Amino acid sequence: MRVPSPRSWCATLLAAGVLGACAGTSASTSTSASASGVTAANVSGAGQPGDPAIPERAAAQFPAGWRLPAGQRATFAPQVMAVSNSREASAAAADIMREGGNAVDAAVALGFALAVTWPEAGNIGGGGYTVVRLADGRTAALDYREIAPLAATRDMYLDANGKLTDKSIYGHLASGVPGAVAGLTALLERYGTMPLSKVMQPAIRLARDGFVVDTALATSIERASRMLLRFQRQSPFTPNGTPLATGARLVQPELARTLQAIADQGARAFYSGWVADSLVGEMQRGAEGTTGIITRADLATYAPVWRTPIRTTYRGYALLSMPPSSSGGVTTAEALNVLEQYPSLPAYGSTRWFHLVGSAYQRAFIDRNAKLADPAFVPVPLAQLTSKSYAARLKATIADTRATPTRDLEPLMAQAAREPEHTTHYAVVDARGNAVSTTTTLNNSWGSGVWVRGAGFMLNDEMDDFAAQPGKPNMFGLVQGEANAIQPGKRMLSAMAPTIVLDPRDQVLLVAGAAGGPTIITGTSQVILNVIEHRMTLADAMRAPRIHHQALPDSLTFEAGGVRPTVLDSLRAFGHAMREVRSLVNVNAIMRVKGGWEGQPEPRRSGGAVGY
Ligand code: GLY
Repeated sequence: MRVPSPRSWCATLLAAGVLGACAGTSASTSTSASASGVTAANVSGAGQPGDPAIPERAAAQFPAGWRLPAGQRATFAPQVMAVSNSREASAAAADIMREGGNAVDAAVALGFALAVTWPEAGNIGGGGYTVVRLADGRTAALDYREIAPLAATRDMYLDANGKLTDKSIYGHLASGVPGAVAGLTALLERYGTMPLSKVMQPAIRLARDGFVVDTALATSIERASRMLLRFQRQSPFTPNGTPLATGARLVQPELARTLQAIADQGARAFYSGWVADSLVGEMQRGAEGTTGIITRADLATYAPVWRTPIRTTYRGYALLSMPPSSSGGVTTAEALNVLEQYPSLPAYGSTRWFHLVGSAYQRAFIDRNAKLADPAFVPVPLAQLTSKSYAARLKATIADTRATPTRDLEPLMAQAAREPEHTTHYAVVDARGNAVSTTTTLNNSWGSGVWVRGAGFMLNDEMDDFAAQPGKPNMFGLVQGEANAIQPGKRMLSAMAPTIVLDPRDQVLLVAGAAGGPTIITGTSQVILNVIEHRMTLADAMRAPRIHHQALPDSLTFEAGGVRPTVLDSLRAFGHAMREVRSLVNVNAIMRVKGGWEGQPEPRRSGGAVGY
C-alpha cells in the first residue's frame, strides 16, 4: 500500500478540522473560451488506494470525434479551493481564506467580485441560491431569488391581441426585484467570520482600478453589445458605442461607488439609499416607450428566505440541494431516484445509458414544469416527488427499447435555444471542510440589457422564468403551467441547483452547480453520476459529453460529436427525437481527492480554479 506523504496527512487533518494550518503551494488554473487546456500546478493522487471514501477512479472513454479529451487533470490544492467562471473572482476567494476567512467569507467575496469581473451573469442586480454545509455538519439553504414587483400582473407580457411579447426578456419591464445583495449579506451575517467591508474589498478594488478583459469576456460583450446599446449608451462595456476588446481595461467607477456604499452601510444601501433611487430612476426613465415597475416599496420589502436543503441519496451518497423556489434540488432528486431503481447504470455513452438517463430527466421535468413553483403561493408535493416509491412508479413507465412521448406521460403523471450562456455557479471549500455552493443569475446573459445609470450594474430579466403565458414556451423552451404564473411578490420558478454531495462517511465529496437554465439540472446531475456511478475523475466527469431532456420539446438534446453514430441510430430507432447542439451547460465543481481538493471550471467555457 502507498504510504501517504506528510503533506497528504496534514491536508487530511486540516480537512477534518484537526489542524489549523499546514504549508501548501498555490495552485491556480484558468480556462477561457480560447484556451480550454488545463495544466495543474500540482496534481493529486485521485483514485489512489487507501481511502475507502474516495473509490478508485476509472478511465473514461469518450467517442472518437469528441472535442474534450479524457485523461486530463483538474487543479489540485491541499487546503482550500474556489472555482468560478472568473479567475479573478476565484482568486479573491482564495485570498480571503489565506487571510483567515472561512468558505462563507470567501464565497461572499467571490460573489461580489463576480459582479465586477463576470458581469454577464455575476451580479448585484439579480438573485441566486446558496447551499452551505459546515464542517460541524450543519446545513443551510438561502433563497435570494428575485420576486415579481408589486405592480406585476398575470398577463403583463401579452399584447392587445393576447400574444406573448418579448418584454419579459428585454428592457425595463423584464426585471424582478433583485435579491443578490440581501442574500450575500445575510449569508455573511449568519455563517461568516469577517466584516462585510473586508470581504468586499477585492470587488471594490477590481471595479475601481479595473482589470484586463480576456477573450471570454470580450466575446461576451461583443455578442451582447447590440442589446446593451439598445437600452443604455453609457455603460463601461461599450465606451463610445464600441464593445471593449480583449486586452482592454474594464474600469467601473459607478459600480465601485455602489459596492463601497454596500460595504459601508450593508444591504440597506442598496434597498433604501441612493442606489435604490438610481434603480427606481432607471425604471422610470425606461427605453423604447416602455418603463419598468420596480418601486422603492418593492426594494424596501425584499427579504431573502432561509430554507431547509433538499436532502436525497444516490447509492449511499447524500445530496444537499436547493428546494423551491428553485426546481433544481427536487428535479435532480427525482431523476436520480428513478435511475437508482436500476441495480447499476449501463456503460456510460451506450444506447441504453442515453435512453435511461434521458427518460428519467423527461419524467422529472414533466413534474417540474407542472407542479413546482414558489411554495409561498402554491402547495408543492415535495415529499412525493422526492420519494423512492414514487421513483419506482416512474421507472415502471420506462420501456426498455422505446421512447415514451411526453404527451402520453403527462396525463399519467398529472395526478401526482440558445445554449447555455446564462447564470453562473461558484463553489468554495476551506481547510476545515466547510463548503459553499452558489448559483446566481441575471437570467439571460447580461440580463435585460439594462444597465443602471449612476449605480453601474446590470438588471435581470428574471420575469421570463415565470410562465408569462401558461402552456406557452419561455426563452428556454420550457412549457410551464399555472402554478408558475405571474403574481405580485411571487418568486419565479428556477432550475438552479447548487449542490453538495457527501460521501458515505458524511464528508464533502463534491460541490457542484451550473449555468444554463433547465440544462443546469441535467448537467449538474450528470457530473454527479459520472463521479459516483462511473467513477470518473473530476476532469473526465466535466469533459464527458452531456445530454438534456426537459419533457417539452420532446427531444433528447446531445452535444455534437458526443454520441457515437451507431448509438445515435439506435436512439432514433427507439423513437427519440435527437437534437444536436454544440455545447450543453456551464458547470463549475470541486471534488475532494486524496490529500486535498480538485477544482475544475467548465472546460467548455471560461473560468478559474484557485487554491492553495
Ligand atoms: N434563470 C434561470 C433559472 O433560474 O433557472
